[in-house]
Amino acid sequence: MEGKENTRDVAYFEQWNIYRKVIKYNYMFHAEIIDIVRQEIYDLKDISVLDLGCGDSHVLVSSIDKALNFQYLGIDTAKNAIRFSEKNLSSCKGDARHINGDFFVELEKLTGGFDVIISGYSLHHLNREKKEKFFSLISNLLSDFGVFIFYDIESNIGESQVEYKTRTYRILRKNWKQINGNEMDTIINHINNYDMPENEDFHMENMSKNGFINIKNPFKDKHDLYSLYVSRKHRRLR
Ligand SMILES: C[S@@+](CC[C@H](N)C(=O)[O-])C[C@H]1O[C@@H](n2cnc3c(N)ncnc32)[C@H](O)[C@@H]1O
Repeated sequence: MEGKENTRDVAYFEQWNIYRKVIKYNYMFHAEIIDIVRQEIYDLKDISVLDLGCGDSHVLVSSIDKALNFQYLGIDTAKNAIRFSEKNLSSCKGDARHINGDFFVELEKLTGGFDVIISGYSLHHLNREKKEKFFSLISNLLSDFGVFIFYDIESNIGESQVEYKTRTYRILRKNWKQINGNEMDTIINHINNYDMPENEDFHMENMSKNGFINIKNPFKDKHDLYSLYVSRKHRRLR
């Protein structure tokens, strides 16, 4: 199903318990991601943060100074994930708000500049056309000098989505030892039906052509499954 969008698997993330285990055992390298996000945002004061497909907001809550003021907007289709997010954010001084909905739809309605936009492991659920539009919407919502932190699954150059997924199944079955048989079946079923990875060229090209500068790729995992980018925004000429 290369480039073709399927209905979102809201039920998978409503469960959240499987993904919690993935985070707990660092199978998708959240610890490394948090180190990088922390370097980017830890001491920024009075910032506004937009978190797309926020899940339980574990990355933001673990990266920001909890005593600082900030405005946070998290968007997610899974109500249960938002419940965990609200609980996690309650330890922060910042002001948190959520929208339980599809970020692609909500992005069109939002206005104003966000200082930090995070899109973590959520873009690959959109088809290629929507992904392209996504980068342009983000560019319009990021404030001058704002930072865009984007991490997601990423195929190798020349690798098809099917090949990427086949490679993923092999790596997950070998390495995700704390995930039981039923959980692994659920994960693989989810990937098979809903994941649409793109490659580095696609991500770089779409950030570049939408006005992002200083694009850095400080993290790629050892299996070449995931990638994180940090980029900034050209200051708009007034
Ligand atoms: C793999 S989890 C990632 C959670 C978190 N961002 C992280 O880095 O761990 C993907 C999250 O994105 C949400 N999601 C996927 N597509 C979405 C969409 N179009 N609109 C809103 N939320 C979406 C899912 O419900 C889920 O909570």
